[in-house]
Amino acid sequence: MPMDVVYISNLLAEGLAAFDSADSPQALEAARLRFLGPRGLAKAALGAVKEVPREQRGEFGKAANGLNKALEEAFERAKARLGDARPLPADAIDITKPGTRRELGHAHVITQTIDEIVGIFNRLGFALAEGPEVEDEFHNFDALNIPAGHPARELDNNFYLQLTQPDAAPQPVPMLLRSQTSTIQIRAMEAAKAEGSDARVRVIAPGRVYRPDTVDATHHFMFHQIEGLAIEQGLTFGDLKSVLELFVKEYFGADTRMRFRPHYFPFTEVSAEVDIDCAMFKHLRKPWLEVLGCGMVDPNVLRAVGYDPAKVTGFAFGMGVERMAMLRHGIGDIRWFTSNDLRFLRQF
Ligand code: DAH
Repeated sequence: MPMDVVYISNLLAEGLAAFDSADSPQALEAARLRFLGPRGLAKAALGAVKEVPREQRGEFGKAANGLNKALEEAFERAKARLGDARPLPADAIDITKPGTRRELGHAHVITQTIDEIVGIFNRLGFALAEGPEVEDEFHNFDALNIPAGHPARELDNNFYLQLTQPDAAPQPVPMLLRSQTSTIQIRAMEAAKAEGSDARVRVIAPGRVYRPDTVDATHHFMFHQIEGLAIEQGLTFGDLKSVLELFVKEYFGADTRMRFRPHYFPFTEVSAEVDIDCAMFKHLRKPWLEVLGCGMVDPNVLRAVGYDPAKVTGFAFGMGVERMAMLRHGIGDIRWFTSNDLRFLRQF
């Protein structure tokens, strides 16, 4: 190709197109090297000036200079458009790139419900207590005044465990997955007695419980309860009532009305169920929803763990966590809680 002004003007068109169309720092750098690099085409044109016949040299030199200038400007323009044209070293980190976002999890709605309810009772002076999910019959039944032959103890109503190997000796104490958190009443009283602080017990005890119920919208084989227990000299039903009233107003709203309906539980005497009515449930068009069971601790329960019913009295209450969450959030099916469905979980 002869080095003449036509060649220069073609090179100019080609170079301008290359810089203007560069769509990445890499493409721009390739264009820079091709045209403006030490061995680039525009530099070569400058170098060729001295080889051009003398009579054309002035015109060619001017064109070659113009070419370099125009392409350098085109390079600067492209650089401004694309950012720094220097390619990153292979191991470079581009700190301007958005990072890989890890999705942050959050507490499950059941955990949130437990935390909120336990928090309310903490502020009323109840300390957190826990107990094992695998229990013996003493803590799940006997000490709670649930006698032999009571339907609550039947094989069909509990997950009894075969803890030994089939060929080993039978386990000395039958074990089961606890069917209620009332077991923790017994464990808390035992622990207080062991510490010598049995004159006053105040615990709030959340936990999982298990029953072989057929799963449907309101039943599950595993769910959560929160148990409360207060033991002290001179505690009355009035104390129970005021504690529960503070609780339901805090959890369901200050407008909550509460009523006690006589009931029967083996471990309390007297026993009651608590129904509430509040603005939160207006849409249900159903006044008085049952929210928990409660009562004065039965003297037999106190005796079972070595407390003297003549010296102390107590009250207890128990509620279902799933039920609380379903009422509060308008959740229609208990199976959502264990569905692991993010569309559900993200709502809370
Ligand atoms: N344990 C009872 C149940 O699972 C709930 C309950 C009722 C607990 C009354 C209590 C209570 O502490 O006083 O149905």
